[in-house]
Amino acid sequence: MDFTAEKSAEIVSASFDAARDPRAREVLQALTRHLHAFVREIRPSMAEWEQAIDFLTRTGRTCTDTRQEFILLSDVLGVSMLVETLEAEHTTIGATPATVLGPFHMVASPPRELGDSIDLVADGTPCVIEGRITDTHGNPLPGASVDVWQADDKGFYDVQQPGTLPEGNGRGLFTADEEGRYRFRTVRPAPYPIPVDGPVGELLDVAGRHPYRPAHVHFIVAAEGHHPVTTHAFAADSAYIDSDTVFAVKRDLIVDFVTVDDPAEAARHGVTAPFRHARFDIALAPANPPSTPHTK
Ligand code: BEZ
Ligand code: FE
Repeated sequence: MDFTAEKSAEIVSASFDAARDPRAREVLQALTRHLHAFVREIRPSMAEWEQAIDFLTRTGRTCTDTRQEFILLSDVLGVSMLVETLEAEHTTIGATPATVLGPFHMVASPPRELGDSIDLVADGTPCVIEGRITDTHGNPLPGASVDVWQADDKGFYDVQQPGTLPEGNGRGLFTADEEGRYRFRTVRPAPYPIPVDGPVGELLDVAGRHPYRPAHVHFIVAAEGHHPVTTHAFAADSAYIDSDTVFAVKRDLIVDFVTVDDPAEAARHGVTAPFRHARFDIALAPANPPSTPHTK
């Protein structure tokens, strides 16, 4: 069959007919269909196509051990959230929703004791975050691991400012107590721009889009016999809560970071007043839900 614009998808799809793995065949043939339809729709000039290849090449070259430009690209295109959202169609009712992982979980969080501070710099507004890890019926999950990471109050993760920010700043790995409770001290998170000094920044600029994320703290929570969840607690009063550049905000993840002025209350938590206090409870779905799971 001659290669024509009308037949191109059919011809290339057929080249994958013999793929050994049926899932690989399905994915490659769907990719072919959609990619060829996309190219037919936009009819790029050869120069535009070279520009696209150059964009992806530079996206790859921007990746290092501490920078993941492809995740960032997937995030700003809404693809990371689409994958999360489709997976969540099977989520058990009552489980805390997942949201994007983001590109900054590339180093292990240092193990810390409950109540420790993850803020090794301590020049911003103190903040106390606590909550309970339970199953979807409210039963505590003692020993659950609670991995947290956040940008500092100026909007930087430790890995973005090596030599300026101490390693492990804004990160901690906690173990929930016998009642499933966790708590830690930190600095009040601030909204921040995603990195814009690479190809993804160029894309946002061309699109006239702002690069900001609302203030948040990342969590990965895991417990034996349960589905781990990768999620965030978003500060309700943050700028950009309605226009996250990576589309990651979900209503159930918005939390009040309440201002507390009481010095006695501050002392009880090991911070100085005024401080912010947030409560974020997390419920995990069973790893093997019943054969007819409740879905939402
Ligand atoms: C983050 O919250 O760390 C993040 C998520 C997506 C893109 C950039 C940063
Ligand atoms: Fe973040």
